[in-house]
Amino acid sequence: MADVVVQHPDLAGKGVLISGGATGIGAALTAAFAAQGSKVCFIDIADEPGRDLARSLSQSSSYPVRYLRADLRQVDQIRRAVDEAASAMGSLSVLINNAGWDDRHDIETVTEAYWDENQAVNLKQMFFISQAVLPHLRQAANAAIVNFSSISYLLNMGDLPSYAAAKAGIVGLTKSLAGRLGPEGIRVNAVLPGMIVTERQKRLWLTDESMTDVVNRQCLKRVLTAEDIVGPCLFLASAAAGGMTAQTMIIDGGLL
Ligand SMILES: NC(=O)c1ccc[n+]([C@@H]2O[C@H](COP(=O)([O-])OP(=O)(O)OC[C@H]3O[C@@H](n4cnc5c(N)ncnc54)[C@H](O)[C@@H]3O)[C@@H](O)[C@H]2O)c1
Repeated sequence: MADVVVQHPDLAGKGVLISGGATGIGAALTAAFAAQGSKVCFIDIADEPGRDLARSLSQSSSYPVRYLRADLRQVDQIRRAVDEAASAMGSLSVLINNAGWDDRHDIETVTEAYWDENQAVNLKQMFFISQAVLPHLRQAANAAIVNFSSISYLLNMGDLPSYAAAKAGIVGLTKSLAGRLGPEGIRVNAVLPGMIVTERQKRLWLTDESMTDVVNRQCLKRVLTAEDIVGPCLFLASAAAGGMTAQTMIIDGGLL
């Protein structure tokens, strides 16, 4: 779906930083913000798709689209990438906290090291990247953060306890940051995608049967793709959502 492209003129020329912007939903967001005329930098560790995406989008965008390599598990790398993004774009108004790792894991086999690693990718980095962008957001008009949670933590899914705990934690993080930053005019909201079919999801987790099962449980009888997440994220980042903060937006075709 969604060939509907809504223009948000206030996003043009704004500095937007996207985590995990090289593949999947993040790549669709990188392309969408670039198409809005935003200045876009994205952080990832997927070098080849990251460089390819930056190169191809830069050919058709108002500003160069930049791939910044940083492992979000390392706070020093986060800080370096944020500084690099802010100085390359001249300002930073929007942070899209999209990166995540939906690895399946069994309760019996999770080690302490695995738990820490899972939380580092899925939760800890979202706090530290938000902390690192703050001095820049404070200089910007209508600054916004959009955090990626997931409906999975509401579905009693038994095969990803650490991921589900992190995704629930992101809602708490969103509300706490919104409370602290609202008086400064910085908005913080979360999106909770349902089943979003990407190449990686199909390769690792989804089968024709499981996709049919989920679609049957949705009100909308089609699979959702990364493009379905684009409109809500552009909206939350834009002045059109200027009165919204501390909210959670579910995009799941009506599964819940
Ligand atoms: N696809 C879905 O069905 C779905 C459903 C609910 C929530 N979500 C959430 O939406 C977001 C995007 O999902 P997706 O399916 O596109 O994920 P994905 O795994 O395809 O992409 C995530 C991106 O983050 C990057 N990344 C992972 N670890 C990193 C690290 N340590 N440092 C830097 N970059 C790193 C990956 O390289 C990748 O480009 C995630 O937060 C995910 O949890 C997705």
